[in-house]
Amino acid sequence: MPGTAVDLRSELAARLACARERTDMFFELFTPYALYERAIPERHRIVFYLGHLEAFDWNLLGRQVLGLEEFDAEFDRLFAFGIDPVDGHLPADRPEDWPGIEQIRDYNLRVRRMLDEALDAAEFDPALAPHGLENGHALEIAVEHRLMHAETLAYMLPHLPPGAFARGAVVRPDAQPGPRRAGYARTGDPGAVRRILIPAGKATLGLARGAGRFGWDNEFEETVVPVPSFAIDARNVTNREFLEFVRAGGYADRALWEGEDLAWKDEHDVRQPVLWRRRADGWWQRASFVEIPLPLDWPVQVSLAEARAYARWKGRRLPTEAELQRAAYGTPQGTERDYPWGDTDPDPTRHGNFGFQRWDPAPVGAYPEGDSAFGVADLSGNGWEWTASVFAPLKGFERFEFYPGYSEPFFDGKHYVIKGASAQTDRVFLRRSFRNWFQPHYPYVFAAFRCVDGD
Ligand SMILES: [Fe+2]
Repeated sequence: MPGTAVDLRSELAARLACARERTDMFFELFTPYALYERAIPERHRIVFYLGHLEAFDWNLLGRQVLGLEEFDAEFDRLFAFGIDPVDGHLPADRPEDWPGIEQIRDYNLRVRRMLDEALDAAEFDPALAPHGLENGHALEIAVEHRLMHAETLAYMLPHLPPGAFARGAVVRPDAQPGPRRAGYARTGDPGAVRRILIPAGKATLGLARGAGRFGWDNEFEETVVPVPSFAIDARNVTNREFLEFVRAGGYADRALWEGEDLAWKDEHDVRQPVLWRRRADGWWQRASFVEIPLPLDWPVQVSLAEARAYARWKGRRLPTEAELQRAAYGTPQGTERDYPWGDTDPDPTRHGNFGFQRWDPAPVGAYPEGDSAFGVADLSGNGWEWTASVFAPLKGFERFEFYPGYSEPFFDGKHYVIKGASAQTDRVFLRRSFRNWFQPHYPYVFAAFRCVDGD
């Protein structure tokens, strides 16, 4: 069809421009000094991401797909890869090991100019090979990779001192747009949680190859799994509920923690959720930019280890990936839908706290229009959700040859699936097949949890 390639090119070019704007905005949040800070011990300094986004696009699109000549092999390598230490060895580089901001910005500008010129002149034919530039998959990857890192940068914010932010960057949670029911008043109490019975049925994981829709390698192949009946909480565990666990001595009760979780808790002397602060005047939480009195009706952000300990304390457990999938997309009629609320496109003003509307969480259940067919709230938004499922390939998995390191190295039994979305997740990741994963002792990601009952 004449015109299709042109439409695809302009659509993808517009999406790339949008994604660049999103990540450019992040780097404006920091003072120049703070760019060389490391917000999270296990991650790179922020300056790495400034170079990484362009180096990734250059290495994938510029070099591999378009075959352009390299002009700075050192930067291409320096900024190529993020880190995910599973052996406990933390990075030890110093700020002075990294190039200056101006040098990196020059590299970035040059990459963008060269890529944009080459993309403008390249062949885009959707009828040609899959996963190549021809049908836009390489560009989809560049766009989604960049948007994923927008969230990486966002979840680093609460771990930076207030002095790290540029003037005018700081936004208090109560000044952010949100649902009418939003607010972090200490008195806000959603009341006792309802448990919703989900009858036995099926859940479709993944995406059908050849369906023409973009997905990362771990989203293939489409897999239908039977799910026995179970009962699931209608909303996530709140700070208020988790505070009861803390006050009841949950962190000190060794019987609640599994072997490796216990070792992690002891080694790091973990006594409370990572964003909580205990003061003489009570509990506070560090939000993206400022500390606020503990917002009792927000979902609690914890590691999988802490979520598991809480569930055990309650005599309950965490949902599997398939259970969460069924609660989100299944219906009492036995059909499955594209999103928890139905098949209409995600609208972050109605369906949930996602898509960069807010920096911070909102009270649980504040977007009732986003409830699933079974009446389960916040399944796409207001925090990713931990599952009890080890991140593993779906049947028929084939790694992306041009990006072999995306999923396969993490099929190591040490990473667990999280599903859903946070306030700082782009709406593109709300597709049903998208899977995310982290180590159980990583408390930094915007991840919440809920409990289930059933064998
Ligand atoms: Fe990356």
